[in-house]
Amino acid sequence: MATNPNKLSTEPYKGVRDFYPEEMSVQNYLFSVMRSVAERFGYEEYTASILEPSELYEAKTSEEIVNEQTYSFEDRGGRRVTLRPEMTPSVARMVAGKRRDLAYPLRLYSIPNVFRYERPQRGRLREHWQLNCDIFGVRGIEAEVEIIMLASSIMKRFGARDEDFEIRVNNRRVVPETLQVLAERHGLTLTEDQVAATMRLMDRKNKMPAEEYAEKLGQILGEEVSKTVLLTYNSDEVLDVVRTTESGIQFFELLETLQVRGLSNVVHDPTLVRGFDYYTGTIFEVFDSSPENRRSLFGGGRYDNLLEMFGTELLPTVGFGMGDVTIRDFLETHALLPAYQAKTRLYLCTAGSEFIDEANALAARLRAEGVLVAVDITDRKVGDQIKSADKKKIPFIIVVGDEERATSQFKLKNLITGEETPLSEHEIPQRVATTEA
Ligand code: HAM
Repeated sequence: MATNPNKLSTEPYKGVRDFYPEEMSVQNYLFSVMRSVAERFGYEEYTASILEPSELYEAKTSEEIVNEQTYSFEDRGGRRVTLRPEMTPSVARMVAGKRRDLAYPLRLYSIPNVFRYERPQRGRLREHWQLNCDIFGVRGIEAEVEIIMLASSIMKRFGARDEDFEIRVNNRRVVPETLQVLAERHGLTLTEDQVAATMRLMDRKNKMPAEEYAEKLGQILGEEVSKTVLLTYNSDEVLDVVRTTESGIQFFELLETLQVRGLSNVVHDPTLVRGFDYYTGTIFEVFDSSPENRRSLFGGGRYDNLLEMFGTELLPTVGFGMGDVTIRDFLETHALLPAYQAKTRLYLCTAGSEFIDEANALAARLRAEGVLVAVDITDRKVGDQIKSADKKKIPFIIVVGDEERATSQFKLKNLITGEETPLSEHEIPQRVATTEA
């Protein structure tokens, strides 16, 4: 057969994934855990379109995302549109649109796919799904406490132990205050621009060698201040000073409350700043304790001013995004992913094409009882039909043939254990639904 020189690749587009049934089953498992925990906390599901007007991201998202990572294009009517790189601006738009009709505190969740033009690598792809949970309308730290407890509960529900992951917390207001305290030691006051540039640099700290970080910090803050920052920024002495400022007091109250509520794996990370411009207070990320997965599992924080861009009153909000790629890496690393099993429980094979009608009729009756059953409608050897069921990882088979027709008795074979059980028809649904395959 001549091969087509112009044949198309069967690979998906770079950085996105196809989900064959086994991967889809993992994805569904991830989503079902996310959904069930979010709903146990009273969060209600919403969704929005993948397409948004580009200006939605230009005002308040991260510079890196807008300038380097969005998939943007002009539609046929000349409007600039973007495939959403995150869900937060969309949910803010939706809440602003019905600001007065909604009941507060408003708890919302969604599992959208989002697109970022990144260099594909472990934990980073160009399309990922992201559980977003956000609580609107709570000014005090109880909102942060709930959101962080929710994140922790999701990890626990996946089977993680406290020591398997770390919740790193910081505060966007505490960072500038800390930097000012350190500058004052040299009789200096930092400008807003210096503080903003330092925070942008901190956000990229892990993406460069320590020497480069030190050099860039020196360029922003000057030799002396940058040296002090590098040497003492994390020290208890500095944090004790910060503890006396208003946002510092609130921040340390949050850390204490989380401890009181039983979270033992929360740590203060003074260099955590997060890339998005909209965060106004607490920020947090969740990390795998195992160094194999360096990427954050969750990222979130407080953003009280985002609704401003829609001309509505401010609305205090706290939320997070949790990615499917990184949680899957985490679950694989810690051997927490359940083994794959097909959803289809029973495969009906036929001992010749003359039994296909009969097998279909039996399947129809079993489906009415809720059994997930497929019929082999080929006219292949029974052995080949069974191989097919085995390859699909369907746990049970029945062969329909002369004997079954004559006696209305069936032999249910468990393909995993090899065990055969004689059954009458009415016993099948319970057997295939409840027997451990
Ligand atoms: P983010 O930190 O950009 O935050 O993303 C949240 C999570 O999504 C990350 O911790 C990671 O698990 C996953 N993630 C991000 N980018 C990628 C990627 N390229 N490939 C795979 N996974 C990725 C936000 O997007 C905020 N809008 C979250 C938020 C909601 N803040 C408040 N509410």
